[in-house]
Amino acid sequence: MKQAYELTVNGRSVRVETDPDTSLLHVLRNELDLKGTRFGCGVGLCGACFVQLDGNVVASCDTPMWSAEGRTVVTVEGLAPGDGLHRLQRAFVEEQAAQCGYCISGILVSAGALLDANPEPDEQDVIEALERNLCRCGVQRRVVRAVLKAASSEETA
Ligand code: FES
Ligand code: FES
Repeated sequence: MKQAYELTVNGRSVRVETDPDTSLLHVLRNELDLKGTRFGCGVGLCGACFVQLDGNVVASCDTPMWSAEGRTVVTVEGLAPGDGLHRLQRAFVEEQAAQCGYCISGILVSAGALLDANPEPDEQDVIEALERNLCRCGVQRRVVRAVLKAASSEETA
């Protein structure tokens, strides 16, 4: 049976009516039209659907709506303040750290959480922070370079 859920998504209060077991990923993409978060494996193993939930990186495909009630979600669309790019997004463009790009939203979400928690990560910190994000195109080296470049940039966003 459908129930109402209220949560904050990218700074905006939203209310959706859905079944308790509907995934947060489904709601983000299909109810809230936030298509940046991707469906990959559907079972919490690839990272394509990662979002921040109360500041923690979680698989939105594996997060039922009953557990998201009242919580704060940040998707890749909410990483940058305003309309500009987040410094991570700029560094990813500069380093060409994407091939097909399917995995990149989840990687940016993980990397954003890393920089929030650790503004000066070293290479090993980045590798560990992204270990749950799979990339079938093999751009991991460029991704690590881009995250380190973003970390060393002056801006805070
Ligand atoms: S689609 Fe959610 S972790 Fe793969
Ligand atoms: S860039 Fe294609 S899966 Fe990562």
